[in-house]
Amino acid sequence: MKNSYGHDYTSHDWLTLHFEVKSNERLIEISELPIFKGDRVLDVGCGPGIFGSYISLLIGNKGHIHCIDHDEKNIIQAQERLSSTKMTNWSVNRDDLMSAIELCKIYDVVILFNVLSYVSNPAKFLKDLSSNMRRGARIIVKDFDMLSIKFNCIDDLKLSSLINASLLCSRDSLSLSCDAFFGRSVPFIYRQHNYACHNEKILTHFISHPFSKSDELYIFETVNILLKQPHSSIDFATKEYFNSAFNLNNGWFYEKDEAFMIENEFVSILTI
Ligand SMILES: C[S@@+](CC[C@H](N)C(=O)[O-])C[C@H]1O[C@@H](n2cnc3c(N)ncnc32)[C@H](O)[C@@H]1O
Repeated sequence: MKNSYGHDYTSHDWLTLHFEVKSNERLIEISELPIFKGDRVLDVGCGPGIFGSYISLLIGNKGHIHCIDHDEKNIIQAQERLSSTKMTNWSVNRDDLMSAIELCKIYDVVILFNVLSYVSNPAKFLKDLSSNMRRGARIIVKDFDMLSIKFNCIDDLKLSSLINASLLCSRDSLSLSCDAFFGRSVPFIYRQHNYACHNEKILTHFISHPFSKSDELYIFETVNILLKQPHSSIDFATKEYFNSAFNLNNGWFYEKDEAFMIENEFVSILTI
């Protein structure tokens, strides 16, 4: 499924690449979230079950994880991935995100990893979820922010103009609506409801030279998302600069000893 800019962040290939590049750090970070043995977890917009399969291990056989997604291919992949854990504490169902508003009533934890930008009214969605969940239950939101990307060896002014051009497109749409830049809204979503407590974190991911093929592809795809923003006012020279730096065949960025990319994801843990 493509978001309103026509970028497909939901395909199995992109999500798997994304995970491969960050997997070790992400799994440690997931294990530090308040998801405990015996918890009942609802994974909303589970994709190919990348996080779900790990959470099924964290909660053990006394817990249960139910994964929902509307994409048939992702659902099949999620089933395969969860089956491979040999755990029996899971279920996967093809369902719309909005069904979470009813389903959430019986869960201890609702996971919203990189899905809020697919909800037409995230503020109302969060409010409805929060009102239906029991006291002490948690909503855990994690989302991207392309604006927090930093590169070494890349001209900061050129990166700013690329990001600003993307931002201008973004501002043309509804503020909290579907775009590539939900991440920075995450630290403020606790304002949607009277939560017992909330906790915000930033997960920083550092990819440096020497780059693996997956790293290169991931960096290329990430920059490409910014370059491909429709209606964007990126000038030709800036486009050429990024194309020659990150081109997958002979991009000069990947060859530089001191090259790195930093990327941030925003997390909010909301306790009802
Ligand atoms: C960016 S992916 C994130 C997947 C997964 N949570 C992760 O972090 O790896 C967004 C997911 O939301 C799902 N999705 C988008 N809109 C949906 C909807 N209306 N109902 C159910 N799933 C939806 C997509 O199919 C995709 O798997």
